[in-house]
Amino acid sequence: MSFVIRSEMAADQSAIGELTTAAFLTAAHASGTEAAIIRDLRAAGVLALSLVAIDPAGEIVGHAGFSPVETDMSGHWFGLGPLSVTPALQRSGVGSALVRAGLAQLADLGATGIVLVGEPTYYGRFGFVARPGLSCEGVPDPYVQALAFEEPPVWRPIAFHPAFFSAR
Ligand SMILES: CC(C)(COP(=O)(O)OP(=O)(O)OC[C@H]1O[C@@H](n2cnc3c(N)ncnc32)[C@H](O)[C@@H]1OP(=O)(O)O)[C@@H](O)C(=O)NCCC(=O)NCCS
Repeated sequence: MSFVIRSEMAADQSAIGELTTAAFLTAAHASGTEAAIIRDLRAAGVLALSLVAIDPAGEIVGHAGFSPVETDMSGHWFGLGPLSVTPALQRSGVGSALVRAGLAQLADLGATGIVLVGEPTYYGRFGFVARPGLSCEGVPDPYVQALAFEEPPVWRPIAFHPAFFSAR
C-alpha cells in the first residue's frame, strides 16, 4: 500500500479523532481517551508534531502525535503518542513509517530524544530501549523506553503532559 506522510492540517482534526478512536477500540492497553488527549494537547498548544498518513484515496489512515515531556534531564525531550493506524491497514508499515518520519523531523528540530510508553517488541525496532533510571509514574519500567539523539549522563524520570491524564 502506498501512502504519503505529512503534518496535520486544520481540516484533518475530526478524521484524526475518528481514526484514533477506531484504532484503540481493540488495542490491548487503551483508556478510550486517546482522541481526547490529542484534542487537548492541540488546544494547549503542545502538539509539537502531528503527522498523518494519507492513502491514495486521500483518507487519513494513520496518525502520530508528539508533545514535550517534563523531566530534569537537560535538553528537549518529546513523548511519542498516541500512535494509531486504521484497523484494516494495521501491520502494513504505516505505523513504522509514521514513527520514523517523526523521529527524523524531531531530530532536525533539535530534540535531545524521544520517550514513550509502549510494547518493547514493537518499539525496539526503531531503537527505543528501557534505561536504568528512566521511569514514568504508574508504568512498569520495561514499557518506558527512550531513543536519545544526545545520550544524557544520567537517565531520569519523565512525565507526559497533563492532557494525558485529564482528557475525557
Ligand atoms: C501499534 C500500531 C500503531 C502499529 O502500527 P502498524 O502500522 O500496525 O505496524 P507496522 O506495520 O508498522 O509494523 C508491523 C509490525 O509491528 C508488530 N506489531 C504491531 N502492533 C504491535 C503491538 N501492539 N505489539 C507488538 N508488536 C506489534 C507486528 O507484529 C509487525 O511485526 P513484524 O514486522 O515483525 O511482522 C497499530 O497496530 C495500531 O494502531 N494499534 C492500535 C493502537 C495502538 O496500540 N497504538 C500504540 C499504543 S503504544
